[in-house]
Amino acid sequence: MKIVLTGANRGLGIHLARTALERGHTVLAGVRTVVEASPINLLKKQFPDKVYTYFLDVTNEESIAKAAELATTDVGSIDGIINNAGVLTERGKTIEELDFNEVQVTMDVNVLGPMRVIKHFLPLLHKENNQTIINISSEAGSIHNAYGGDFPYGISKAALNMFTVQLSRYVKNKNIAVYAVHPGWIKTDMGGDNATGYPEESANGILDILEGKIDTNSELGFIDFKGKEMKI
Ligand SMILES: NC(=O)c1ccc[n+]([C@@H]2O[C@H](COP(=O)([O-])OP(=O)(O)OC[C@H]3O[C@@H](n4cnc5c(N)ncnc54)[C@H](OP(=O)(O)O)[C@@H]3O)[C@@H](O)[C@H]2O)c1
Repeated sequence: MKIVLTGANRGLGIHLARTALERGHTVLAGVRTVVEASPINLLKKQFPDKVYTYFLDVTNEESIAKAAELATTDVGSIDGIINNAGVLTERGKTIEELDFNEVQVTMDVNVLGPMRVIKHFLPLLHKENNQTIINISSEAGSIHNAYGGDFPYGISKAALNMFTVQLSRYVKNKNIAVYAVHPGWIKTDMGGDNATGYPEESANGILDILEGKIDTNSELGFIDFKGKEMKI
């Protein structure tokens, strides 16, 4: 499979890239910085014909349009998109303390980012059959289980879940599966050292979902990395 992946240079993203490559897939990696020693460049050395890197900032539509144009030239079509890039700003702040510039950054990256990526990469996906889009969401976006904190992050992931349902309805006649996937609480810069899960394990589950190996059976497509339905 040819898979577009955002935020591919660290955290869950670099584990998704490595796992996909080890399974024989081609990774079209969206990154914000490419220096010689970037983790994605090290993977490119290991899998030279299977990694394409593009400058892709999900808040910058021009960079996404350019990446899609380059990807069209490089590979012609794609089979999957993983909207992984995300931020958690204003962690632990109360509503009285919120800085709305940071709230806007969260919405821009976590909600508008995946929408921009889909806008420009969906035409490449339409060229194949049985493809999958995965929006990396969070249990924090579950309205059912909402907690009174991390306001911007929670509302951004709830909105991403809504976008996931809208998108799945939009492409329902095209054999494209669309999921919002909670990766678990995992040890990354965002998740921190106290997290109980490992990004390697989540990456494996997410790739199983992308490959259609897990029968998810979820009406609204909000699932965890093992395919278990989550409550919207
Ligand atoms: N960690 C957890 O426990 C947890 C739990 C639930 C959901 N999630 C979700 O899982 C996904 C990955 O999170 P993570 O734990 O790997 O976080 P992370 O370690 O903080 O990594 C965040 C990733 O997002 C990228 N990114 C941020 N802003 C971007 C932008 N404007 N354009 C493009 N890329 C951008 C970063 O790229 P740079 O390297 O360029 O900064 C980095 O690759 C996120 O959507 C997050 O909300 C994580």
